[in-house]
Amino acid sequence: MKVRAGFVHSMGLMLIGGLVISGCAAVAEQNDSAKNAAKDAATTRAAFAMMQASFKARGQASVDRLNQDETQQLCSQYQDNPPKEIREKIEALNQKLTLFPADGVLLGDWKEGEKIAQSGVGKQFTDNPENAAGGNCYACHQLTKAEVSYGNIGPSLYNFGKVRAYAPEIAKYAYGKIYNAEAYSACSNMPRFGHSNILTPQQIKHVVALLMDPESPVNK
Ligand code: HEC
Repeated sequence: MKVRAGFVHSMGLMLIGGLVISGCAAVAEQNDSAKNAAKDAATTRAAFAMMQASFKARGQASVDRLNQDETQQLCSQYQDNPPKEIREKIEALNQKLTLFPADGVLLGDWKEGEKIAQSGVGKQFTDNPENAAGGNCYACHQLTKAEVSYGNIGPSLYNFGKVRAYAPEIAKYAYGKIYNAEAYSACSNMPRFGHSNILTPQQIKHVVALLMDPESPVNK
């Protein structure tokens, strides 16, 4: 059993994002009027200024982490529940941002993948940016029977390859999903591991092997 740490910084920002929105929720009820829209914008600006004033850059945790990209802005604006056309826009935008390995190889070594899934190290100011970050997959997913400590924000991935099929299109989906979850499910709570440079393409291949190799404990 391990204590799950990591992504505390990004999770903290997600929560703060939520607070900004709930601060706007009261006025959002009669959101039709331009007056309320202006109020919303002013509240968001004030909250952002407050965050900018209170966050201090430390090590690799620079203040530019407060800047939202278009996907994050849209998800904040729609409280992670955008209407269909915005959802499709977010997914299409992120499909374009999802890069697959040029060599076409999607599977690495599941044993390395298990280490990455177990590790919650990386991206915090106390972490050495020279060292590879972990994927912290167990923080949100069950993956193997052997590991009894896992979170359940995400679905169980136990038997992923066995149930979905050991097929190239499933490996491609797994790689793309881990690289950029927003390309498949707008406003997902899953970090965009490749897109956000948390994991390298090689690390993602190892994790895909963890999900897809018939010999992996995920499929045993
Ligand atoms: C902060 C929580 C979180 C972390 C960390 C996380 N995920 Fe997820 N993941 C989710 C959530 C929530 C979903 C379901 C929503 C969605 O599909 O985006 C999901 C969905 C998935 C799916 C799609 C499942 C399906 O049935 O199609 C895969 C595959 C996956 N995650 C793999 C991983 C791997 C591998 C890691 C580690 C590199 C990881 N996740 C880390 C939250 C997380």
